Amino acid sequence: QPPLKIALAGLGTVGAGVAQLITQNKDIITRRAGREIQITAVSARDKNKNRGVDLSSYRWMDDLSAMASDDDVDVVVELIGGSDGPALTLARESLSHGKNFVTANKAMVAHHGDELATKAEKNGLAIKYEAAVAGGIPVIKGLRDGASANRIERVYGILNGTCNFILSAMEKDGRDFAEVLADAQANGYAEADPSFDIGGVDAAHKLSILASLCFGTKVDFGAVSIGGIEQIKAADIEQAAAMGYRIRLLGLAEIDGDNGGSALFQRVHPYLVRKTHPLAHVTGPTNAVVAEGDFSGRLLFQGAGAGDKPTASAVVADIIDIARGETGPMFGMEQKHLEQLPKAESGHR
Ligand code: HSE
Repeated sequence: QPPLKIALAGLGTVGAGVAQLITQNKDIITRRAGREIQITAVSARDKNKNRGVDLSSYRWMDDLSAMASDDDVDVVVELIGGSDGPALTLARESLSHGKNFVTANKAMVAHHGDELATKAEKNGLAIKYEAAVAGGIPVIKGLRDGASANRIERVYGILNGTCNFILSAMEKDGRDFAEVLADAQANGYAEADPSFDIGGVDAAHKLSILASLCFGTKVDFGAVSIGGIEQIKAADIEQAAAMGYRIRLLGLAEIDGDNGGSALFQRVHPYLVRKTHPLAHVTGPTNAVVAEGDFSGRLLFQGAGAGDKPTASAVVADIIDIARGETGPMFGMEQKHLEQLPKAESGHR
């Protein structure tokens, strides 16, 4: 088979990780993909920045529209970020020009996932977004493929590494919020605008994507009720601990039984988690997702939710899927609308 030619748009932490992974694990990637994965174009704002990987041999393209229509590109990999702007234009143009599309951009998928998935499906293309939710954890694949026979009753978890890093450091060492946030930024977990992390918006982006997948609904970010951790003080953490709880920023989605089973409940908020619950033991920038399937029972996915290497691992897994021709449905196990959701068991919340 001919090589699969990919273009990397955005060479920040994750982009550099993807370039490194494709080079470093070339042998096993080629074997598992059934063909070579070749980076044929790259794009970034700053060409001269030291990224710790040698990108000098790649073809640099300044014009993203040209990248989207380039004959020497089969798959466009978007790692620019931002819900709109250049990332969204690149997604639309790539799909219009017959390119499969891989993205780590949760904000864009949360806001425009439905439009992009519809466009991709219409054109017989794939848009894949494993890295958009919970970094290196293969939770999209796990739920879409591994749990595909289940009715998922509830999905919840720790979806923001920065918040979990902050909360667990405050808990462990009694450290100051601002100081730990600065550490998270220095380690590359935090968003360019960290208010998205601590305000719960980043977790809400991911929750809306997970909810769509688990309940077969359209991504509905606007319906997520969002709270962050800005107001959590060391005293709250101590008080919770004294009562047998830890504080975790969780995203939770389930069918809202209080509303005749016809609506989705989606919320991101600091929750009190009993110390005996597995999520109370998830510390640092780790993410964890729990899904309750009617046949599978409780599934727990845990791993690194951010960082260059874990996120690159998820991006390259999507590229390998495309190389193998395994693209699967984009959103939802079934594309149902909210009105068609099954009735929730009464009182299961
Ligand atoms: N800022 C995000 C986090 C990065 O802290 O989880 C991964 O999406």
